[in-house]
Amino acid sequence: MEMDTRVFADLDGLSHAALNELLRVMHEAIDQRGRFAIALAGGRTPARLYSLWSHEQPMPWDRVQLFWGDERFVPHNDLLSNFRMVREALIAHVPIPPANVYPIPTDQPSPEQAAQAYESTLRAFFGAAAPAFDLVLLGLGPEGHTASLFPGSPVLDEKKQLVAAVKAPANPPNRITLTPVVLNLARNTFFLVSGTDKRAIITALRQEPPTTADQFPAARVRPAGPVVWFLDRGAYG
Ligand code: 6PG
Repeated sequence: MEMDTRVFADLDGLSHAALNELLRVMHEAIDQRGRFAIALAGGRTPARLYSLWSHEQPMPWDRVQLFWGDERFVPHNDLLSNFRMVREALIAHVPIPPANVYPIPTDQPSPEQAAQAYESTLRAFFGAAAPAFDLVLLGLGPEGHTASLFPGSPVLDEKKQLVAAVKAPANPPNRITLTPVVLNLARNTFFLVSGTDKRAIITALRQEPPTTADQFPAARVRPAGPVVWFLDRGAYG
C-alpha cells in the first residue's frame, strides 16, 4: 500500500524527526484552534519521543491536551500501563496542568465501563464538533496491530463507538482502544516504528495491494489528514 515513509538511522533519529513534526502540527493547531489535542501511542517505541518532548522549551503546555490511543486494563502504576510510561517519560517532567491530562480510567470496575467512561470524556471534550485529534501517534505490532486493534477484531468494523474494550492476543489481554471511527478523523497521524522485528510487517504493508491490506489493522487507518510513517533502518530494511 502507498505509505509516506521517512527513514532514519535509528530510534533516536526517528524520534527527533517526529518531535520536529509534532511541534509543527502543535503550533498550527494552537494558531488555528487555540489548543493541541493529541492521542498518544503506548508500548516502548514512543518513549524516546516523549522524553525529548519533555526537554523542549519554550512549550505552551497550558494549550496541550493529552489523551491515549489505547491502554492496558491495569492500574496506572503497573509496569504495563501506557499511562505510567508517558508519566515517567513526559508528564512528570513538564508543567502541564493536570486538567489537560486525560488518562483512560482503568480504575473502573470493568474494561467495558472504562471504555464507556472514556467515550464520555472524548464527547465532552470535543462537544458538538467531530472528535478529530490534531495528531494521533500510533505504533505497529509485528502482525500489523495498532493501538489495541488486532487482526480479526470486530472493533475494526465499528462505525459508531469512539472507544471500545477489547480482548487482545497479548499480555495483558484486557485493553481499551480508540476505534477506527476516531482514528480516521485525525487531522494528522504519525506511525512510529523501530527495530528489525518490525521489518517483516513494514515490508508486508509496503508490498500489500490496497485490495488486501485491510487484513492489517494499521492499514485500516485511512484518515482524511496526512499519515506519516517514521521508521528506522531496522524496520525499513
Ligand atoms: C500498546 C500499544 C501498541 C504498540 C505496539 C508496538 O499498548 O502496546 O498501543 O499498539 O504501539 O504494540 O509496541 P512497541 O512500540 O513496544 O514495539
